[in-house]
Amino acid sequence: MALIELKDVKKVYDLGEVKVHALRGATLSIEKGEYIALIGPSGSGKSTLMNTLGCLDRPSSGSFLLDGQEIVTMSRDARAKIRNQKIGFVFQNFNLLNRTAAMENVELPLLYTKGVSARQRRKKAIELLQLVGLGDRLDHHSGQLSGGQQQRVAIARALVNDPAILMGDEPTGNLDSKTSREVITMFRKLNEERNITIILVTHDQAIAKNADRIIVLRDGLIVKDTANSQEAFEALNSFELSEEAEEEADLAKESDQSSQSENSEVAEA
Ligand SMILES: Nc1ncnc2c1ncn2[C@@H]1O[C@H](COP(=O)(O)OP(=O)(O)OP(=O)(O)O)[C@@H](O)[C@H]1O
Ligand SMILES: [Mg+2]
Repeated sequence: MALIELKDVKKVYDLGEVKVHALRGATLSIEKGEYIALIGPSGSGKSTLMNTLGCLDRPSSGSFLLDGQEIVTMSRDARAKIRNQKIGFVFQNFNLLNRTAAMENVELPLLYTKGVSARQRRKKAIELLQLVGLGDRLDHHSGQLSGGQQQRVAIARALVNDPAILMGDEPTGNLDSKTSREVITMFRKLNEERNITIILVTHDQAIAKNADRIIVLRDGLIVKDTANSQEAFEALNSFELSEEAEEEADLAKESDQSSQSENSEVAEA
């Protein structure tokens, strides 16, 4: 049994008059210990798929088995519980508390875990900050840390409940390329040393290339799912080219119409 089994998962946002089909039937399975990048143009459904996989959002239809448990029909509370046990999240803007020490930021999710003493929380936070290379920054507040360091604190926080899966929606979106590499090295290390399943949404091809498998989304559909980054980028570029072609065709049509209307004005005159 795979860690994640999605079957024909659809997500429709109902905005009254319009319905947005953000996912139009996603089927995939992910084994424990995989390292996956989700790529695709803006609006293609990457965050929607990520939020579904992360049990933050419930699909409109289809089946999603996480470790053999059906998430789609689960209550909100049950879903939240599973999420806390199995999934760690890292966000583009780090989401750390201001004026709060790195150590306390990392401890925070453990406050909601029963049976963990203050001393155990502290011990775990220190151990994880050491793991991400910040053993010498335990008392630093967010404002006293670089972007890359803040993201590493966020990674430590995401790991505090020993999740099977670590997810990030554009986790390097606010970082320069050197710092991005630092953070990506950390994801790779966690994948290799702790067998944590990594799923990242990214616009950065260098980061996608670093993954073992790339899933390409377009218009709410998975159009490519491959270990070959070249193939994945071709699928992405062919979309961008067809978009450009459409735009050019639209422009051509418009200029056609305007020249016709010019002609008719001339005719009228
Ligand atoms: N809460 C919502 N309500 C209505 N529509 C939504 C909602 N969230 C997303 N959408 C729509 O669903 C589609 C997919 O959005 P999604 O955020 O998954 O795209 P994305 O691939 O993550 O894009 P980006 O790269 O810009 O972050 C888009 O058309 C978006 O407008
Ligand atoms: Mg998004």
